[in-house]
Amino acid sequence: MTRLENQVVTVGVTGASGAILAQKTLELLERDARVARIHLVVTETGQRLFAEELGLASGDLKQLPSRILGRLATKIEVLPNRDVGASIASGSYEVDSMIVVPCSMGTLGAIANGIADDLVARAADVILKEGRNLVLCVRDTPFNRIHLENMLRAQQAGAVIMPAVPAFYHHPKTIDDLVTQYVCRVLAQIGLPQEQMYRWTGSHSEAKKAEA
Ligand SMILES: Cc1cc2nc3c(=O)[nH]c(=O)nc-3n(C[C@H](O)[C@H](O)[C@H](O)COP(=O)(O)O)c2cc1C
Repeated sequence: MTRLENQVVTVGVTGASGAILAQKTLELLERDARVARIHLVVTETGQRLFAEELGLASGDLKQLPSRILGRLATKIEVLPNRDVGASIASGSYEVDSMIVVPCSMGTLGAIANGIADDLVARAADVILKEGRNLVLCVRDTPFNRIHLENMLRAQQAGAVIMPAVPAFYHHPKTIDDLVTQYVCRVLAQIGLPQEQMYRWTGSHSEAKKAEA
């Protein structure tokens, strides 16, 4: 499965529901041998959502990756969201891909309109201008017209819009099944397909018959 090596990935986490999606994304990237480094930027509300949804106490930001993974994180470097002068804020710094997971409507709006006043939005802005991979795991429901127009703007600028919508065709039994399949689909978008990703082979395929 190894096609890429030494990948550098930025993960932005914002204040939309779905902190568990960020947690799974970081887990899979951390253990992926193709990934060398992960830059993690969490907005203020993103930190609040880690506390609200996963019970992760806010504390020393540097310890956040290990708190998220529940073990020592070796590849993840946290960058303060207010530091718009961090490495990933410049196109001269090599980042292969960026995932914003979950992506709030606020951050979507900033990215879609080039408002780069925090590190998540600036890093995404840089990814787009450099023609690199940007996946926005947008989450809200229902969407208003502004959200929809911002998604279209971001997509036209090169982002992949990947709404945090689970699939059911793989017969998930647990929340982890739903989350893992969704995150695997996200990672496939940045060229890091995961072995555990369920792949539909058609209702009447030989593989399906063998499963039955
Ligand atoms: C518990 C909680 C859940 C939220 N869920 C969402 C959501 O699913 N989608 C969204 O766009 N905003 C949601 N918000 C609102 C955003 O957090 C808010 O608009 C914030 O300003 C976004 O800032 P950020 O993009 O810098 O994180 C939620 C807020 C809270 C406190």
